[in-house]
Amino acid sequence: MKKLIITIDGPAASGKEKIAKYIAKKWKLNHLDSGILYRRLALIFSIEKIDIENVNKIKNKLKNIHQISFRNSKNIRTQVISRLASKIAVHDCVRNYVNKLQYNFVNKNKKIQGFVIDGRDIGSVVFKNADLKLYIDVNPEIRAKRRYKQLIDSGEKSIYPKILKDIKLRDKQDKLRKHSPLVIPKGAHMVDNSGSFTDTIKQIKVLLDKI
Ligand code: CDP
Repeated sequence: MKKLIITIDGPAASGKEKIAKYIAKKWKLNHLDSGILYRRLALIFSIEKIDIENVNKIKNKLKNIHQISFRNSKNIRTQVISRLASKIAVHDCVRNYVNKLQYNFVNKNKKIQGFVIDGRDIGSVVFKNADLKLYIDVNPEIRAKRRYKQLIDSGEKSIYPKILKDIKLRDKQDKLRKHSPLVIPKGAHMVDNSGSFTDTIKQIKVLLDKI
């Protein structure tokens, strides 16, 4: 049986995760957050003090990582790890490693009827033939306000102008990198997530009903 694949791409803090979780629950699909995988690698590199500018050191380390957790946790949501994840994501070897994990995850779960996968290059590179592609759009100021609230609620110290600066920097890094930059994937539907969550879900329901 062909598995349904829905991809969600968009910039930092655009709300991809919340939207993906909602779709997964409502339509009984499995959710895969590819950002977690970049964040997990960033955490490993940071703990082991791997020089992330040195591609050979990264490659050697990747050869020795045989398992990686797909679970979210507070220690991969810090600003330091967000920044580091975006930095390591420019390397082709890191992207290939993460993409393989994603293909294995989808292929091994034979009984699952479909997946919602979110990230930066999911509809443009990883699952180009997805059944539905969404691109989430929100301006940087709204994204920064939401991320600021998220960090404060989780107990992390945070300053709004710094968050805004970080988000703009990550946008730049994600959009300008050579390998798999953040783009609006071919055939993707634009979803405006600047308003209420109910408004966003209304836009998505129309698209899902057409699959
Ligand atoms: O939650 P947020 O949108 O802030 O970030 P994330 O989705 O957890 O991703 C963290 C970082 O990983 C991003 O800034 C990207 O640089 C990178 N990433 C990527 O390059 N490709 C993906 N498919 C997912 C994440």
